[in-house]
Amino acid sequence: MSYRFPELGVGTMLWTPKSDEEKENYFKTYKWCLDHGVDFFDTAEVYGNGSVETLLGEFKKLDGRTVKISSKFAPPSSMNPVAPKRKTVKTDSPEAIHEALDRTLDRLGMESLDLYLMHTPPKNGNIAAYMEVMAKELESGRIKAVGVCNHSGKQIAEATEALHKYGYSLDAAMVGYNLLRRYPETNGVIDICRKYNITLIPYAPLAEGTLTGKYRGKKVPLSYFVTSYFGHLNMTKERDDEIPFIKRLFSKPRECDVKRMEPLMLVLEDIAKKHGKSIAQVSLNWLYTNPKVNVFPIPGTRNIKQAESNLGAVSWTLTDDDRKRIDEAERSCR
Ligand SMILES: NC(=O)c1ccc[n+]([C@@H]2O[C@H](COP(=O)([O-])OP(=O)(O)OC[C@H]3O[C@@H](n4cnc5c(N)ncnc54)[C@H](OP(=O)(O)O)[C@@H]3O)[C@@H](O)[C@H]2O)c1
Repeated sequence: MSYRFPELGVGTMLWTPKSDEEKENYFKTYKWCLDHGVDFFDTAEVYGNGSVETLLGEFKKLDGRTVKISSKFAPPSSMNPVAPKRKTVKTDSPEAIHEALDRTLDRLGMESLDLYLMHTPPKNGNIAAYMEVMAKELESGRIKAVGVCNHSGKQIAEATEALHKYGYSLDAAMVGYNLLRRYPETNGVIDICRKYNITLIPYAPLAEGTLTGKYRGKKVPLSYFVTSYFGHLNMTKERDDEIPFIKRLFSKPRECDVKRMEPLMLVLEDIAKKHGKSIAQVSLNWLYTNPKVNVFPIPGTRNIKQAESNLGAVSWTLTDDDRKRIDEAERSCR
């Protein structure tokens, strides 16, 4: 039976506080989420070099309530050359999953994870061997579901087929997806998710803040420009690119071009007004109510105000006409 994801989760990639005040803010956000039924937190062993898992473990102990956690194992990969070194096995062996999971569960103070994902495809390409070890961890009960991140449609199918051999299924595929980053619709990821009933977990669901409207009339931060630019160069080969590399090299990613984004922002703003919502809530709802695939959004939530807004993005539905207008506006700023 497939794992049932809730309506909304919380992305904690940036929960790396630099002061007690910041830490207190995250703890308040954590408690607010639990008070309001949002109890699924996404993390990874590499976030803050393990410190985000430790922080969640501390919050869980202080608060005392049950939570659901997804975390990620980082194999050596061309996307992530600095994978954590393992002590008991070779870093590039699939058995490294056991050691990584030991550490993750230790830091979280938990006996099992709701979802364990491979953070990137392994450099040695042997996805099936990694899934064999994941199947052993499902068997042991230390994980309840398996997922993969940043895998192509073909690689997701390979992971699925490998798990089927042991009587398990792949429950989640995490890729960058939002109403500006549409590649999963054409690169085979959504097709494979539909075929195998896999939930798509879109990271960067708010395009790291662009889809909240907060950069309108402003310059985007340099850090965001840099990550968008790497995506724009298609270094991870997530899209079948129609724009020649040389042209991409000398152009701005569109999400960083605030003037180019403005017609889309105006449409989102108009639809938001009609529903009594915000641009951020419309952008998240567009993902959450995706008619093609089951989507579980995990927006990166930094404080109670954002948690409240993100919760207001689910349990209602954009109309077909709203979706049509959004798609037209998105196409017009390509
Ligand atoms: N598997 C992977 O490879 C991978 C990669 C990236 C992310 N992830 C996961 O996906 C999660 C989400 O992705 P993300 O954090 O990169 O991008 P995101 O969710 O698109 O954007 C997060 C940013 O949006 C702003 N924000 C969030 N909610 C808001 C609201 N309601 N109103 C206004 N602004 C709001 C915050 O900006 P401020 O910081 O300015 O407050 C936050 O830092 C991560 O936390 C992580 O768990 C996974």
